[in-house]
Amino acid sequence: MYSNLQGTKHDFTAAYNCTWPHSYFRAHLALDYVIPDRAKPVFERIFADYRRCRRKTRLKIIDVGCSYGVNAALLRTDLDLDELYAAYLQPSGSLSGRREIEHANFFRNRGLRDDIQFVGVDPSFRAVRYAQRLGLLEAGITADLETRDLTIEEHGALADSDILISTGCVGYASELTFGRVYHASAPSRPWVVTFAMHPFSYHGIAAVLRDFGLETKLIDRFRQRQRRFSTPAERETILNAMATLGMEDRLERTTGYVYASCYISAPPGEAL
Ligand SMILES: C[S@@+](CC[C@H](N)C(=O)[O-])C[C@H]1O[C@@H](n2cnc3c(N)ncnc32)[C@H](O)[C@@H]1O
Repeated sequence: MYSNLQGTKHDFTAAYNCTWPHSYFRAHLALDYVIPDRAKPVFERIFADYRRCRRKTRLKIIDVGCSYGVNAALLRTDLDLDELYAAYLQPSGSLSGRREIEHANFFRNRGLRDDIQFVGVDPSFRAVRYAQRLGLLEAGITADLETRDLTIEEHGALADSDILISTGCVGYASELTFGRVYHASAPSRPWVVTFAMHPFSYHGIAAVLRDFGLETKLIDRFRQRQRRFSTPAERETILNAMATLGMEDRLERTTGYVYASCYISAPPGEAL
C-alpha cells in the first residue's frame, strides 16, 4: 500500500475475504464504488480491438485482484453493477440468500457467456472460491504474489492468456505481482488493461511490462470514477499526494469522487 496513504485511505479489507460477498457489496456501495461498471465499456472496446488484431474469438482473461468475480460477472453478462448491488443487498434480491445453487443459477440465467474465460488472482481465497464455485472464474490463484513466486501449477493456469485486466487493485499489487503474472503468460504476449486509482503510480508496473516488450499508454479519455472520498481527511491526503506527484486533480476537486487512470500495454503498434 502506498505508504503516504496508510491510515487515511478507506479500509475495505474486512470485506475482502468472506465466504459470501454481501459485506463487500455493502461496504463498496456505501462509497458509491463504481469502477468495475465504468471500466466495463472500456474493457469491451479493448476486447473487440484485441479480437480484430489477433483474429481470435475466445478470450482468456486474467483478472488481478478479482475478488468475488465482479469483473467476470459484468463482462460475461449484460448485468450492470447497480443490478448486482440490488441483487445482493435488497432483502428480496435474487442473491440476498446464502444458497450457492441460487447464486450459480442467477448468473447462468443471465446468459453467462463462455467465449470469455476468466482466471482470477487474489490472496482473498474465500472470495476467489466463491467466484470459482459459481462458474464466474475458470480458475483461481489464491496467492499473494507480492511475497512469493508462482508454483508450477499456478504458472500453468495463467498460460496462453489474451488480456490481463485489473480494477481497484494497484496499490495492493505492485510490479512484483504484475511481473510474475505476466511472466507466466508472456509467450502469448497478452495485452494489459489496468485502472489505477489516484494517486497510485503505474511507473513500476509499466517498467516491468517494458522488459517484456510491451509499450504502455496512459489513455486520458478512459479515466473513470472509482468511488467517493470517504472523509475530508482522506480527500485532503489523496489531493496532497496527487499534487506531490504532479497529477491533475480538476475532477476530484469538482465532483467529490476519486478517479482511476486507465493504462493499456501491448506490443508496439498493436493497441489503439
Ligand atoms: C477494492 S477490491 C477490488 C476488487 C475488484 N477488482 C473490483 O473492482 O470490484 C481490491 C482487491 O485486491 C485484492 N488484493 C489485495 N492484495 C492483493 C495482492 N497482493 N494481489 C492481488 N490482489 C490483492 C483484495 O483481496 C481485493 O479483492
